[in-house]
Formats: sequence, C-alpha cells, structure tokens
Amino acid sequence: MQPLRSSSARGARSLVGGALGAIVLHVAALSACGAPPPGGPDEEAPFVRPASLDVELVSRFGDATSDGVGANCMECHQANGDGPGRFSVAGTLLDAATGGPAKSARVQLWTGAFGTGELVVELEADARGNFYTTQAIGIEERLLFPFVVGATTTRGMPFQTSSAACNKCHVGRLRLRAQ
Ligand code: HEC
Ligand code: HEC
Repeated sequence: MQPLRSSSARGARSLVGGALGAIVLHVAALSACGAPPPGGPDEEAPFVRPASLDVELVSRFGDATSDGVGANCMECHQANGDGPGRFSVAGTLLDAATGGPAKSARVQLWTGAFGTGELVVELEADARGNFYTTQAIGIEERLLFPFVVGATTTRGMPFQTSSAACNKCHVGRLRLRAQ
C-alpha cells in the first residue's frame, strides 16, 4: 500500500502546481488585456462622433459620392458610427434586368400600402443605385410602407416597417430591385 499512497501524494502535489500555474497564466492574460498596446489606440475608449459629421445629405440622380453598395448604411451613418450624416432612410437598388445600379429609380415611403395615403418622402437613387437622406421622417412614431418606382414598374413592400435601414433586411436573394 505504501507505493500507492506516495503516488497519490505526488498526484495531489502536481494538481496544486497545475492550479497555481493556471492562476498565474490567468493574471498574466488579464493584465495583457487591461493595458493598451504600447503606442496603439485604447480599444476600450468610447467612440466620440465628431459634430462635423452631422451634415445633411440626400441622394440625387447622378451623384457618385456614396459608398457601401449593398451594406447596411446605418451601421456607420448613425449617432455611434463614423459615416457623415445620420441617415433616416438608406439602401441600395439594383437594376432588375442588368444586376447593376438602378440609376433612375426612386424610393418612396407612404402611410398606406402600395403607394397610397400620404407620401412622406421620395428619394432618387444615385449613380451607384444608393439612396439616402438625413431628413427626419417620423418613422419612430408612425410605421411606413416602402415603395420602389422603377422606369416601367413599381414594387411595394406589402407590410409596414419601423426601420428604413433597407439593406438590413434586403440582402442576398432579397436585395432591392427596380425595373
Ligand atoms: C462601414 C461603414 C460605412 C457603411 C456601411 C457605409 N458608409 Fe457611407 N461612408 C462611410 C464613411 C466613413 C464615409 C466618409 C468617407 C470619407 O470621407 O472618405 C462615408 C461616406 C459616404 C458618403 C459621402 C458623404 C459626403 O460627405 O459627401 C455617402 C453619400 C455615403 N457614405 C452613403 C452611404 C450609403 C448610401 C451606404 C449604404 C448603401 C453607406 N454609405 C454605407 C462609412 C460607411
Ligand atoms: C425589417 C426588415 C425589412 C426592412 C427594414 C425593409 N424591408 Fe422591404 N421587405 C422585407 C421583407 C421580408 C419583404 C418580403 C420579401 C419578398 O417579398 O420577397 C420585403 C418586401 C419589400 C418589397 C417588395 C419586394 C418585391 O420585389 O416586390 C419592396 C419594394 C421593399 N420591401 C422595399 C423596401 C425598402 C425601400 C425599404 C427601406 C425603406 C425596406 N423594404 C425595408 C423586409 C424589410
């Protein structure tokens, strides 16, 4: 029985050693995270949006200043983002025939389905097929129906939305198309 006891004692010692080692490693990892990398930005610092970004913007036919085709524009063009202008409505329209930008289509938001009721806002797609505005549209208080007006046809969203960050939902197979 003697050899057995001594072997279990060794086992206990190595367990303690292992636990201590783990604690030391853990503390080292913590302090590595807590300290900002030398000379680099402090990742923990809250983002402060410069007031200079809060400009009024609205898309027009032919403009080519926009970026982010197909992306959710409101990831960046919002209070906690670094994109110029806080967009109230934004997204991207593809040409249903070519798959390229729908350069001459328009997006409207109505109080009623399929272009009925009151027209709240109308936006022109730019040269990249992007549409956007910083104009307040009151969608927080009143849900609205999107409506896309192409050269020859219209397409309406059959239900209301409280978000006009169109590309949040209209991705992949659901990308917005106009014709
Ligand atoms: C990942 C963040 C991000 C996304 C997503 C994004 N943008 Fe931007 N956008 C920016 C930044 C940053 C700038 C400023 C670029 C610069 O000044 O060089 C910018 C610039 C612009 C501008 C030019 C603004 C000006 O001052 O003239 C427009 C218009 C624009 N974006 C529209 C859009 C639209 C529309 C979408 C979605 C289809 C979109 N952006 C998606 C970050 C983004
Ligand atoms: C919360 C998610 C969501 C948002 C935000 C959203 N949509 Fe939709 N939309 C949908 C879904 C889901 C459908 C139904 C998909 C289908 O018909 O295949 C739809 C359908 C549509 C349709 C009809 C599709 C067709 O081909 O006939 C249009 C047009 C449309 N949306 C435009 C817009 C526009 C413009 C915006 C932004 C102002 C917007 N949607 C914002 C989810 C959304």
